[in-house]
Amino acid sequence: MIVTVTPNLALDVTYELPELRPGHEHHVRAVHGRAGGKGINVARVLRSLGQDVLVLGLAGGATGDAVRADLDGAGLAHDLVPCAGETRRTVTVVADGEATLLREPGPVVGPDEWAALEARIPDADVLVVSGSLPTGVDAAALAGLVARLSARGRPVIVDTSGDALRRAAPYAWAVKPNAEELAAVTGTDDPVVGALMLRSRAVVVSLGAEGLLAVTGDQVHRVPPPRVVTGNPTGAGDAVVAALAAGAGTPWPELLRDAAALSAAAVLAPVAGSFDSAAYEGFRTCLSSPPER
Ligand SMILES: Nc1ncnc2c1ncn2[C@@H]1O[C@H](COP(=O)(O)OP(=O)(O)OP(=O)(O)O)[C@@H](O)[C@H]1O
Ligand SMILES: [Mg+2]
Repeated sequence: MIVTVTPNLALDVTYELPELRPGHEHHVRAVHGRAGGKGINVARVLRSLGQDVLVLGLAGGATGDAVRADLDGAGLAHDLVPCAGETRRTVTVVADGEATLLREPGPVVGPDEWAALEARIPDADVLVVSGSLPTGVDAAALAGLVARLSARGRPVIVDTSGDALRRAAPYAWAVKPNAEELAAVTGTDDPVVGALMLRSRAVVVSLGAEGLLAVTGDQVHRVPPPRVVTGNPTGAGDAVVAALAAGAGTPWPELLRDAAALSAAAVLAPVAGSFDSAAYEGFRTCLSSPPER
């Protein structure tokens, strides 16, 4: 089983309007709500890959219940620890082909709630910790969690940013920053130098349409995408994390090619947490047969 932990999950609400005019009244044409947060996207991808996956996190109030109900509806197993604060919503207003995003701050999470979340994390083949930290939980608390989870002897994959990324990296089996996140914590635009500075066992840097660069021990791997595609890149990084979790233990070159194939297929799917399965199969086939010499 793979467990994904989303410390700061959300209900993603989308409002569709014909146009958005600040200072005016609007009639919303359609409203959609969906459990969101990077670990939940990773879990959705893993489930579509046929993996046994469990979603963990903290959820409070009516919005927390709406997240649980959506996960139930999606057939995703979950064990969300109740917290006193109300789970945050991220509201996307889609109007005139443009998206305006409003992020609520979310609940303040206390040390007891954070400890309760850790206590709930079962033994798993692979653990994924994805996304930002809630207010009240600092980078040291995340690093401590990752260190203790890694001490269980299973791979722990961390996808976060800022100080939380920097502090957790030395304890993780792999971290997955994108180029901007890596540059922000290391102060260098050279991803190889930055990856070495993070001091994680494996640093997989996602470079958008340029593919992946990974530093694993003394090896540097560069994996171009199977093909540059156009579509929705939001959540493509979560697909990389899902591929790493599903294939943990596979030799790195093969694992990274698979991650490039799955994430390109994710760009072809309209919402984060999904991928175009026919394209994925096609990309995998072309990546696994090296070009003729
Ligand atoms: N246009 C594209 N064509 C092909 N593959 C792509 C394209 N954009 C992204 N990818 C693949 O998806 C991976 C992840 O993309 P990106 O670096 O944008 O992740 P990210 O910023 O972490 O995304 P998110 O956090 O929204 O999930 C890339 O490393 C690459 O393999
Ligand atoms: Mg990302």
